[in-house]
Amino acid sequence: MSLANSTPPVVSGALPFVGHVRQFQRERKKLLWRGYREHGDVFAIKLGPTYVAVVNGATYNRTFYSETDNALNLREAYTFLEAALGSVTLTARKEDYYNQRPVLQEIFRREHMHFYIHAMNIEVQRWLESLGDAGTTNLTDDMLHLTQAVAGHALIGATFREELGKTFWEDYRAIANSLDFVLPTHLPLPKFIRRDRAKQRLREAMLPVIQKRRQRPDQYDDLIKSLLTTPLKDGNYLDDYTIVLFFIGLLFAGHETTAGQAGWTIILLLQHPEYLARVQSEIDHQVHTEVPIDGALLSRLKSIYWAIDETTRLRPSANMQMRVVEQPLTLGSYTIPSGWRVMVNADISHHLPDVFTNPEQFDPLRFAPERNEGKNTFSMVGFGGGIHKCTGMNFAKNEMAIIITRLFQQFDVELVTQAPQVVVGKGASHPSETWIRYRRKSERVRDIETHAESPDIAGCPHAVQHT
Ligand code: HEM
Repeated sequence: MSLANSTPPVVSGALPFVGHVRQFQRERKKLLWRGYREHGDVFAIKLGPTYVAVVNGATYNRTFYSETDNALNLREAYTFLEAALGSVTLTARKEDYYNQRPVLQEIFRREHMHFYIHAMNIEVQRWLESLGDAGTTNLTDDMLHLTQAVAGHALIGATFREELGKTFWEDYRAIANSLDFVLPTHLPLPKFIRRDRAKQRLREAMLPVIQKRRQRPDQYDDLIKSLLTTPLKDGNYLDDYTIVLFFIGLLFAGHETTAGQAGWTIILLLQHPEYLARVQSEIDHQVHTEVPIDGALLSRLKSIYWAIDETTRLRPSANMQMRVVEQPLTLGSYTIPSGWRVMVNADISHHLPDVFTNPEQFDPLRFAPERNEGKNTFSMVGFGGGIHKCTGMNFAKNEMAIIITRLFQQFDVELVTQAPQVVVGKGASHPSETWIRYRRKSERVRDIETHAESPDIAGCPHAVQHT
């Protein structure tokens, strides 16, 4: 019998009504590998009444990304975000997204990256100064606070703490905590009421920030200015409220994701001292405490970027992406009907032994040119792919590289929590609470002017306790 035009086979173990929901929530990796062993590159799982076609490997991942905005609808898969973030980037209607796209491209242009890297230098050093000379700290929390500070500084400028006000991050958290995959987002529940009040306060906090840039654009060179002055595809400009949403959307896309991946990169390095020694030697030879890290220096820190890529492979913050099928889609010998969902995932794609040698091993040198195991960009899905591939990827990788470089340059570090676990959050995965012990080994970085700003870190919950 020909399989042409049949739907993908459903993995064993589906229960009446709920299908694979519980296994998907609790043992996703096991479920997906069972599907792969039973049926190969394309199979289906059932989440309640909804069928999800799971695709694996570079060929089908490529189809998934290239059919996004064609047969596959991205926005429908992110409706749970819309009440929180409005209609921008991933939650925008297709026409709005393509209209807004020039703005998205503008803000991550190389010229702006210089300023972002400068902001990263300052905020990373502030964090390291806050540690003192020796102690223990909760790395997971520190990364969440540090990535907030970097985003605030890079996107709003050095005065972001005063400009955004004391309650900004609390309000941001109220919005992030309101995300719900199941409940209708307009119900009068306390968390949705908190979300709407927080959105209103954020709007009020940000409108004067926008007004200032609108009145004197020549005095600013930050994200808000770019959002204000970059024409949309139709020649119009973003209105003030959409600018607020854009800013919050960027924070949301880049905050937990970068925090989780930065935390895991540090953890994996500490768990692999032989590779950490290579990283350490790279830092000792290339990086001076007197010289700020710039783009040119970053491009020489190859061992660090390979470690970041290997962490993206083994501990991705975003380990799956979903789409809704709008028009029937052919995948190999199967047809996926409208109304189904399609999913790419890192659990299988990042662990295929014919792509990655000894896939369970932490082996960053697999990304070195001699081996180049990541040569097919669709083998990895951690930053997405195609038109919607993460526009903040270089921002995130540079930020992680600066964190790692400065941390291991100035401190000896060891893990107190020996076996951190993956925690699947609402926005992204991250390590469970992970304590590290540190001792300063070098002079402080000197020419980074962390002291130029107020030492009290007003408004930012960066005031973490170190013991
Ligand atoms: C390690 C950190 C990060 C990870 C793992 C990550 C992951 C991703 C993934 C998987 C997508 C594609 C989603 C999909 O196709 O459904 C995406 C899109 C996006 N990311 Fe990131 N991201 C990170 C950091 C950032 C940062 C720092 C920013 C901004 C400052 C950012 C902004 C965006 C935006 C705007 C999009 C939507 C792009 C579009 O639709 O064209 N991300 N990200």
